[in-house]
Amino acid sequence: MLNTKIESALNEQIGLEGYASFLYLAMASWSEREGLQGCANFLYRQSDEEREHMLRIFNYINEMDGYALTPAIAQTPHDFGTIQALFDKVYAHEQKVTNSINNLITLSYEEKDHSTLNFLQWYVQEQREEEALMRDILTKIRLIGDGAQSLYYIDKELEKINRATAAKETTEGENT
Ligand code: FEO
Repeated sequence: MLNTKIESALNEQIGLEGYASFLYLAMASWSEREGLQGCANFLYRQSDEEREHMLRIFNYINEMDGYALTPAIAQTPHDFGTIQALFDKVYAHEQKVTNSINNLITLSYEEKDHSTLNFLQWYVQEQREEEALMRDILTKIRLIGDGAQSLYYIDKELEKINRATAAKETTEGENT
């Protein structure tokens, strides 16, 4: 059983994850139009992941006899300027999500909700990994530079990350 404060905070988190999914989808589309297929593939996958993050909370709320609500998603931007500006935005959004997860954890402590505390631990690790990955991409972009000549190499770096992630997922799939 969830208390109403926790239920409503978790429903807000659903909205944040849902927005991230649509934001990254918009970014994938923009990247594709710019001819950056490696970046687009990366962002399509991130968009799918955010939907999974949203659904995980959705399922948890209902499992706990609460009521998961479909969120209203604000219109995302459609123009991201440069690839560096785009990834700056991704990183900022991930920081916002981390902050929100931390607030949820504080609330769960205050409400002595150990089940939700336990549930949120998965998100703590996920946010740590996602922030580290986005920082790594931003560092690469800064090193390569995001001028027209550099875009080809940035896109190749993102393809490398896509291949590494796909290989990791295959290995994890074989070990389950
Ligand atoms: Fe689910 Fe990347 O926040």
